[in-house]
Amino acid sequence: MSRAVVVVAAGSGTRLGIGDAKAFVPVAGEAMLTRAVRTVLTLAEPTVVVVVAPAARLDECRALVAAVAGPAVDLTAVVTGGADRHASVQAGLDALPDGIEWVGVHDAARCLTPAAQFDAVFTRARETGDGVVPALPVTDTVKRVEGDVVVETVDRSALVGVQTPQVFPLARLRDAYAVAERSETDDAGVYRAAGGTVRTVPGDADAFKITTRWDLARAEALVATRAG
Ligand code: CTP
Ligand code: MG
Repeated sequence: MSRAVVVVAAGSGTRLGIGDAKAFVPVAGEAMLTRAVRTVLTLAEPTVVVVVAPAARLDECRALVAAVAGPAVDLTAVVTGGADRHASVQAGLDALPDGIEWVGVHDAARCLTPAAQFDAVFTRARETGDGVVPALPVTDTVKRVEGDVVVETVDRSALVGVQTPQVFPLARLRDAYAVAERSETDDAGVYRAAGGTVRTVPGDADAFKITTRWDLARAEALVATRAG
């Protein structure tokens, strides 16, 4: 097995404000984590899955993963996360079995990400040998401000918003994390800071991150549309 996905699910979901670890919050009756793991396990190419969970929820997480994985459960592992996303990704990378060449890092909170997005990033990474992230154009007009005063309009033609999964050659991502500044807010930032090239492929609106109550409502509506 040469590829793996680390699903980071150890965040507390402060901005969602439901008082539960966010990945365990249901979207239309099913935990975000269940939805995210199922998508990875349905990919045509077998993929190892490492779930990074809050320390207090490990058993629950194992049960949830076993339920969704069925006979593929031997492809999965559950490990304890850290105080921030950076530490959680590192814990996931440390837990990967030998023989993995390519790793995708995926937010459990992007639980409606289509399988095709996973395929697209892994395919492009193998074609180029580089890191690859899904990206969407920025649609709002973007301003630079000083306090509440607008000082300029930023040219948005060269700006994108990035999603997950973000895919990298595992050895180089591990090396990058070993020397990374914690100010980098995503894996692509860590990889690039260590000298790696990161490319983009088109993202998908459905891969949005559930951060707020509004996002959760949007996710529920999207599932209802798919079901219909
Ligand atoms: N994450 C993690 N470990 C952390 C923090 C975040 O594994 N210590 C994961 C989250 O579970 C989520 C992803 O990183 O799947 C993106 O983080 P975010 O959307 O910020 O989730 P939370 O940190 O849970 O939310 P908040 O920032 O509102 O508390
Ligand atoms: Mg967070």
